[in-house]
Amino acid sequence: MMNRIDYLRISLIDRCNFRCTYCMPEDAEIDYLLKQDLLTQSELLTLLREVFIPAGFTRFRLTGGEPLIRSDIVEIVDAIAALPETQDLSLTTNGFLLPEKAQALYNAGLRRVNISLDSLDAATFDQLIGRRSTGSKTNWDKVWSGIQTAHAVGFDPLKLNVVVVPGVNDREILDLAALSIDREWHVRFIEFMPIGNGDLFEKAGWVSSADLREQIGQRYGIEESTVRGNGPADIFKIPNAKGTLGFISQMSECFCDRCNRMRLSADGMLRPCLLNETGQIDLKTELRQGTDLAEIRDRVIRLVEWKPEINYKLRDSGSTEGYARSMSQIGG
Ligand code: GTP
Ligand code: 5AD
Ligand code: SF4
Repeated sequence: MMNRIDYLRISLIDRCNFRCTYCMPEDAEIDYLLKQDLLTQSELLTLLREVFIPAGFTRFRLTGGEPLIRSDIVEIVDAIAALPETQDLSLTTNGFLLPEKAQALYNAGLRRVNISLDSLDAATFDQLIGRRSTGSKTNWDKVWSGIQTAHAVGFDPLKLNVVVVPGVNDREILDLAALSIDREWHVRFIEFMPIGNGDLFEKAGWVSSADLREQIGQRYGIEESTVRGNGPADIFKIPNAKGTLGFISQMSECFCDRCNRMRLSADGMLRPCLLNETGQIDLKTELRQGTDLAEIRDRVIRLVEWKPEINYKLRDSGSTEGYARSMSQIGG
């Protein structure tokens, strides 16, 4: 059976308050979008109502850069949550601004968040996110407090994303996995991909999910979980743990065949695949030129139908060489 393509990842802004080393090179000059090139809230809502929902999309994830630095984030959540067709609305964040924003987001109708947490050590964390801590609280403290706030406010499921970079945070895998034992948190290990910072990837390499499962299994035991995700993660758990362990293995186990998603960039480019721009549609330009919405909708529907043929096979090609955009520009 063919996958239903019903999940849209919406990048709201390409900027980020972190500079994670796996996401962007240390001193790279990045051409950020100008404010006037971002889709406005009203353009986004028009596209959702008139184009994406009629084309079959019912699940939406807000991403960045860092979506919480978009000043109208709470209003956007409120508007999307209020659409009667929305079946699932979620957000991927680095967590830094959650202490102040979690409650308002929840009140606006958001019910689940995925938060990056690549280390439990404040110094390693600063190294990973490319930011020095200032003031009395470390960056790690702030993100940890964001995670606690999200938990207290009631976000469920709460997923924590870990990109494993050999030599940087790989010694913390067991401690990070253990976060799933006492709390109903879902810790997901993401294989490092050669996107964003090719130099670091060349130097550090990557660790396979199978290798991680072996390490975790030896220490705590590991079993396949009956829980099914709605994305690319394979779900396991530590026996008797409250939460689960997810493994996102795009390097070792191409999951493109079961891909159910498309991506809308902050400047309104609809990409059929994270790693492939073939067939992308410049929706912002079409909208601003006044192209008939019915025509835009037809083009999107055709792209959805065509998508299975364009899906990128990272494993088959073994590299993303020449791949210019960072994850912060595409939205992860
Ligand atoms: P849910 O399962 O809905 O919670 O979402 P998710 O796991 O897809 O969302 P999240 O933003 O937390 O994504 C985690 C990571 O999975 C991303 O940063 C990517 O590394 C990877 N990922 C998500 N979608 C794709 C995809 O279509 N292709 C590839 N290669 N990787 C993806
Ligand atoms: N490889 C794998 N995952 C990455 N992310 C960013 N860059 C990379 C990369 N090179 C992930 C982050 C976050 C999401 C937005 O993208 O961990 O979960
Ligand atoms: Fe880090 Fe996400 Fe920001 Fe990239 S977009 S620098 S992964 S927090």
